[in-house]
Amino acid sequence: MLTRPMHLTETDGTPMPARTPEHLAFAEDLAQAFKLRPRAISPKYFYDAEGSKLFEKICELPEYYPTRTERGILLAHRVAMAAEIGADAEIVEFGAGSCEKVRLLLDVLERPHRYRPVDISAEHLACAVDGLRKDYPGLDVQPLAADYTQRLVLPAAEPGVRRVGFFPGSTLGNFTPAQALQFLRRAGQALRGGGLLLGVDLVKDPQVLHAAYNDSQGVTAAFNLNLLARANRELGCGFALDAFAHSAFYNAPLQRIEMHLVSRCRQNIALDGQGHLMDEGETLHTENSHKFTIDGLRALALQAGLQPGPVWVDEQRWFSVHWLRAPD
Ligand code: AVJ
Repeated sequence: MLTRPMHLTETDGTPMPARTPEHLAFAEDLAQAFKLRPRAISPKYFYDAEGSKLFEKICELPEYYPTRTERGILLAHRVAMAAEIGADAEIVEFGAGSCEKVRLLLDVLERPHRYRPVDISAEHLACAVDGLRKDYPGLDVQPLAADYTQRLVLPAAEPGVRRVGFFPGSTLGNFTPAQALQFLRRAGQALRGGGLLLGVDLVKDPQVLHAAYNDSQGVTAAFNLNLLARANRELGCGFALDAFAHSAFYNAPLQRIEMHLVSRCRQNIALDGQGHLMDEGETLHTENSHKFTIDGLRALALQAGLQPGPVWVDEQRWFSVHWLRAPD
């Protein structure tokens, strides 16, 4: 929905919405993406209102096991998790989205003090917060619209309040290993004296992985293509959506699902007055979704200065939830 004032672009007179700082960052990163080799853009741009809706649909797909598997683990072991978290904690959730998963914890935590959902989409947060305040009247809910992939700026912690991070959904897997290490390091600093409850997807049969990112209803394809649809909506780009195909495959040596948008023909892409040639079969890399082994994740945490504690998994060992203690 475009409610911003309209003005004319200098180039072709097409009416365009005025660009906010967020639009400018998207426009810059998109132009940069088509200059990089291989072409690549951050998956954070999937999540406008439409993309967030599509992601919620993904979570309900029969093939997409992570959401329901993690939910099962949380349900089965949340009392033990609450014991690690302790009483009067402040829960900081990274990439909170619709703030649904945290309810499983809030229902068993002892006097949770505050819930601070951090999400890149302010829109998304605003919707979720009202319901939470109603359902948990004693809880101080303080949403923070921020890009936690850039930096972690949290208000100073109050004395006597343990700060605990909650990072479910295997979103850590979207980072490169180096970025994941950096994120865990920063999280450890921001959560000093507390800990991090982290959900990550595990290495498994490549066929199961492949199906999860190539669903039969084409929702994941629509989610991937929404990146270009969003660019058309917000930036007035002229992407022909039918000139791109969804591609997702498991890269076993790198332990990750890769998502790409494949050009179906030789085409010229105009961005901010500059042309970018793309040949048939060339791709824009839109997402990595790294898969972990339990030992690998624990080693990464240690390297980041976090102390690995208990880990909970489902019966098939498809997904894992880790308690990682932050330094004192
Ligand atoms: C929310 C980033 C963890 O990588 O599995 C789902 C996003 N991408 N289907 C994932 C996603 C394609 C999801 N994460």
